[in-house]
Amino acid sequence: MSVRATIAVFIVLVIGGFNAPPALVHSARILGFFPSVSPSHLFIHCGVANALAEAGHNVTVLSSTKNPYKLTKYNYIQLDLPLFPKEFLSRLVTKEQSLIARYPYFIKEVAQLSNQSLANPRLRQFLATHGEGSFDLLILGYFMNDFHLGLGAHFKVPIVVSFMVQPIFAVHNLVKNPIEPAYVPTLFSERKQPLSFWGRVENFVVALFETYYMTLLVERESQKYYHYNFPSDRYPPLDEVRKNVSLIFTNHHFSQGPIRPNVPNLIEIGGIQIKEKPDPLPTDIAKVLDESKEGVIYFSLGSNIKGSHLNEEKIKIMFNVISKLPYKVLWKWSPTELPGESKNIIFRDWLPQDDILAHPNVKLFITHGGMGSVVESQYHGVPMVGIPLFGDQPSNMVNVERSGYGLAVDYLTLSEESLNNAIQDVLNNPKYKEAVQTFSRLYRDRPMTPRETVVYWVDYVLRHKGAKHMQSPAVHMNRWQLLSLDVIGFLLAIVLTISVVIVKVCKLICCRGRKNKLPKVEKAKKN
Ligand SMILES: *[C@@H]1O[C@H](CO)[C@@H](O)[C@H](O)[C@H]1NC(C)=O
Ligand SMILES: *[C@@H]1O[C@H](CO)[C@@H](O)[C@H](O)[C@H]1NC(C)=O
Ligand SMILES: *[C@@H]1O[C@H](CO)[C@@H](O)[C@H](O)[C@H]1NC(C)=O
Repeated sequence: MSVRATIAVFIVLVIGGFNAPPALVHSARILGFFPSVSPSHLFIHCGVANALAEAGHNVTVLSSTKNPYKLTKYNYIQLDLPLFPKEFLSRLVTKEQSLIARYPYFIKEVAQLSNQSLANPRLRQFLATHGEGSFDLLILGYFMNDFHLGLGAHFKVPIVVSFMVQPIFAVHNLVKNPIEPAYVPTLFSERKQPLSFWGRVENFVVALFETYYMTLLVERESQKYYHYNFPSDRYPPLDEVRKNVSLIFTNHHFSQGPIRPNVPNLIEIGGIQIKEKPDPLPTDIAKVLDESKEGVIYFSLGSNIKGSHLNEEKIKIMFNVISKLPYKVLWKWSPTELPGESKNIIFRDWLPQDDILAHPNVKLFITHGGMGSVVESQYHGVPMVGIPLFGDQPSNMVNVERSGYGLAVDYLTLSEESLNNAIQDVLNNPKYKEAVQTFSRLYRDRPMTPRETVVYWVDYVLRHKGAKHMQSPAVHMNRWQLLSLDVIGFLLAIVLTISVVIVKVCKLICCRGRKNKLPKVEKAKKN
């Protein structure tokens, strides 16, 4: 050992002492690839990356758009990858397509955008200069972009997948989490446990549609683009790469429901994007919140929807209702011209949502019902009025309503009356606030915080070289085996063989018997 190294070890032992966090000792090089087509997904994935960076790992993030957090410890590389195109969002909002037509369109669109991402010149440059040995672990921001798992093969590292909400069919498929349609509603069937008979009928059909049709579609699209980007002369097949998925982090917690069995390598980190302690608010916003003892309303339709996506008539309705409320309103609005001016409304094109919702004077959150927003509101115990637009938002708001945390109004039939009634009801009836605050206490009650959970399990995967022992054996089985079709076929064959033998034997016995008996009967008839 050189003199310098000896001194370094000595200093670590003496100064660091035995209290140094263990993660610092084996700091790993972790690559986060977050090609998210929607900025809201980045809050979750970067939350994971940040927890690891703060624990002392060397984390490099390659991402589609700008860093959603300030003051982070990871090394952030903004690649400017393609996001959801504007027409695409408008098309989803208007719901002009049926569900059956919308999802395949959605999957194809996402796969194509993900393919474009891999053509990004800065990414190509990065991949040309970094390969095997550059990193110890890959974290992939997941959104039906299975073929991006090929990066795990590029770096020859274990893969951790990060997902924004409760797992959907494609996520279950990655780790072969069981689908239990009799009592686990899928994200898209909008049902609540326990399922009634009709609920089970609907859920069964939706689950079949998702597990067979949609999963096969994702598979087909992934294979197509995988072959293009990770040619077989240099890379293993996608099916092999998939087996290197060590963990899935899902931004969900069972207290939100539904209750379901999970394989051991699916880890719930619901609320990872929420700061355990809020950051200080900008002074002007802090002043409004501190001074409005009667309460403040926070209004945001999320990071995807800009004013220009919404219909003017609906914007007018929202403005008319909100400008008449006897409360101060913080309205996140960007970037088009303001819908109007009113003394009680403060417009900003960006607001620190999590820190605002943490303020005790916030009385109501008017939201689009995106999962991130709903969870933050639930975490901080703020009741909601939702105006869901597309994707999982309507089903998120159905859950909010059913759980009693607030009310939803339909965007397509939005009127001043419907919006105002919902707002007045949630503001004046204490039951909404009580329900959401009870939930908030449940949601926070865990053995480890979401950040601690992330750090623990990533260290675990690193310590155990991919932790393959956690994988479900189902990952290594094919469809027939999983449905036990081969076993059923085998047993049927046995039953059939035995039946045939029995029938044959019976026939033999009967025939012989008949030969002996027949003449007697004939004799009897004659007599
Ligand atoms: C993927 O993107 C590249 C680069 O834009 C393009 O040349 C290629 O045709 C695309 N692959 C497929 C299968 O469409
Ligand atoms: C962190 O990892 C990156 C990528 O391997 C490397 O370029 C960089 O030098 C590392 N930084 C430190 C402080 O070790
Ligand atoms: C799987 O990960 C290991 C490292 O844990 C790596 O050596 C191997 O090449 C990877 N295999 C594939 C198919 O990506």
